[in-house]
Amino acid sequence: QTEIYGKGALMGITPTVTTDPRLLEEQAKRALGTRAFNYVAGGAGEKATMDANRLAFRQWKIIPRMMRSMNGQDVSVELFGQKYDNPVIMAPIGVQGIFHEDRETGLAAVCAEEGVPYTMSTASTCSIEDVATASGDGKRWYQLYWPHDNNITLSLLNRAKANGFSVLVITLDTWALAWRPADLDNAYVPFIKGIGCEVGFSDPVFRAKFEKESGSKIEDDIMGASRAWLGEIFASDPHTWEDVAFVRKHWDGPIVLKGIQHVEDAKMALACGCDGIAVSNHGGRQVDGAIGSLDVLPEIVDAVGDKMTVLFDSGIRTGVDIIKALCLGAKAVLVGRPIIYGLGINGRDGARQILKGLLADFWQSMGLSGIRTVSDCNREMIRKVQHAG
Ligand code: FNR
Repeated sequence: QTEIYGKGALMGITPTVTTDPRLLEEQAKRALGTRAFNYVAGGAGEKATMDANRLAFRQWKIIPRMMRSMNGQDVSVELFGQKYDNPVIMAPIGVQGIFHEDRETGLAAVCAEEGVPYTMSTASTCSIEDVATASGDGKRWYQLYWPHDNNITLSLLNRAKANGFSVLVITLDTWALAWRPADLDNAYVPFIKGIGCEVGFSDPVFRAKFEKESGSKIEDDIMGASRAWLGEIFASDPHTWEDVAFVRKHWDGPIVLKGIQHVEDAKMALACGCDGIAVSNHGGRQVDGAIGSLDVLPEIVDAVGDKMTVLFDSGIRTGVDIIKALCLGAKAVLVGRPIIYGLGINGRDGARQILKGLLADFWQSMGLSGIRTVSDCNREMIRKVQHAG
């Protein structure tokens, strides 16, 4: 303790990334170009949902207990029959290559070193195979932007399975991209230029389909291939609940539906045979004016929490945020922007600092709150307090 405060969080090494969550975004803004920064920091509409996500966290207060030793403190969790060192998962984030040349492979390696599962996005700038190699023995999950062509879906699932991705996360809330002014004003469309299409371009089934239909090789028509890939993953209509049966049939590992905000949808996910859900509003990037993600967590946990694994994301910035989500019933949380800011500021070292800092903050805050294990997190440890004004 005295050593940390005497030498700083990095034990004497000058940090390249701030440990202050309020300053991190500012630092990322200076480090990243406008377009990349706007892409990560942006949200839908006037960012009302992003605000609601943070407000929801602020309204819940921890009620710490005293004289409880940290000896034996253990923050490991079991998810889908597997033990994890921490209840923290790297959220799927697309097009990481625009933030730093270390991109998905660099971040997957960092997550493996820190014992945090890396969730790979379908919109990555690296192939499934390259991310798996970089992740090595690390735990890895695969996030599906769900193609409408079942042959392409099958090909992605098979590649993910063959490359050691254990959990399938299907994102439901982004079947079309939302109105995101910060991206629209910059005419910033990374996908159209082929960035973020690597998973598709390296897919043999998509390649064959594109070449057959267009008569060109992907490399000779990057714009056309990008549009075709985008059409596959962000189609004009969402899938249906009945379609889940197809994926269920072809994926024998756990399936998590991401983007659940309504109790009835949580019940549908359960009825479809899914193993988990991620209560998430995509970090406020889809429906502007949507409810804060933490605000719907308790009712969803009450409805399905004893029958399936409820994960949470949208708005986690600090260790106590993780505690609050766990106290409201989440089994683990996914973290997005802060780690990407670290990646953008200083590549894999920056991402590592943010991740290590968040885990240390969580550990310390658990101890100081008198909570020894994740299963000791419960609603008696927190209270909702709304201050006027
Ligand atoms: C995302 N998110 C996301 N989700 C997903 O399922 N697939 C994806 O490719 C992406 N891409 C993506 C890019 C960027 C730049 C951001 C910020 C977010 C959503 C992400 O997984 C997660 O739900 C949110 O980031 C969580 O909110 P916080 O932690 O960023 O507040």
